[in-house]
Amino acid sequence: MLSINKLTVLADNKEILNDFSLDIKDGEIHVLMGPNGVGKSTICRAILKDPNYTITNGNIIYNDKDLSNLTTTDISRLGIMMINQNPIAIEGVTNAEMLRMALSERTNEHIDIFKFSKEAKEICQKLSIPESFLHRDINSGMSGGERKKNELLHIWMLKPSFLILDEVDSGLDVDALKIVANSIKEYQSITNCSILLVTHNPKLLEILNPTYIHILHNKKIVKTGDASLAKEIEKIGFKNILNEYDIERNLENE
Ligand SMILES: Nc1ncnc2c1ncn2[C@@H]1O[C@H](COP(=O)(O)OP(=O)(O)O)[C@@H](O)[C@H]1O
Ligand SMILES: [Mg+2]
Repeated sequence: MLSINKLTVLADNKEILNDFSLDIKDGEIHVLMGPNGVGKSTICRAILKDPNYTITNGNIIYNDKDLSNLTTTDISRLGIMMINQNPIAIEGVTNAEMLRMALSERTNEHIDIFKFSKEAKEICQKLSIPESFLHRDINSGMSGGERKKNELLHIWMLKPSFLILDEVDSGLDVDALKIVANSIKEYQSITNCSILLVTHNPKLLEILNPTYIHILHNKKIVKTGDASLAKEIEKIGFKNILNEYDIERNLENE
């Protein structure tokens, strides 16, 4: 279980999140929604200790471990993995090299090259990815859709127990989106991993069928609901939902 407690996060000395709390139990899928620039990516990156973000208050606990003094590498060793909106290309390092190194870092064991190759090829087949992807530089020269499929390869190989997906649907056409979403759903049902998802995409939400939807506003989560909240947002928009929230708060404070 991941527990974020009363977190304050700064970016460039500006407070982006304050009093941000969220608990995600094993096997749950939580969606974070909110208008652009509200801090959705900030929380995703703060969990993984992106050096551009500073936590000045509160803490994050994952399976009874306080992440406060851990590095990004330590945190990924615990099984937390993030897929970015725009996965970057890394020239000079192939997928296979990176994955073998990451696996050996995770397990502290030597990774048998034959076993590794066999598993990697099976996963490529499962994802309809050409095996040649394994020997290409990470995401280099790949289209947006190919990069996302490449990230799926990383998920299946590295087997995270906590997955952070920040706008994983961006840049995908309808067919690619279905492949990516179904593959994540399959991975989630086999491994019972937890997912923190940032998206407003109705198709992705339909396929992943989240446990909870949260709305981020004024630096923290102000409303939580089940999957129907996403439909409400789509129907009436954030502005109206947040107006209702502000009216309720004003009445409470009167
Ligand atoms: N590295 C950074 N340096 C300065 N400001 C940042 C940085 N990252 C994010 N911000 C600012 O923090 C706010 C929240 O950004 P972000 O978390 O990316 O929003 P969202 O993902 O909800 O669209 C924005 O105002 C953005 O400009
Ligand atoms: Mg974002």
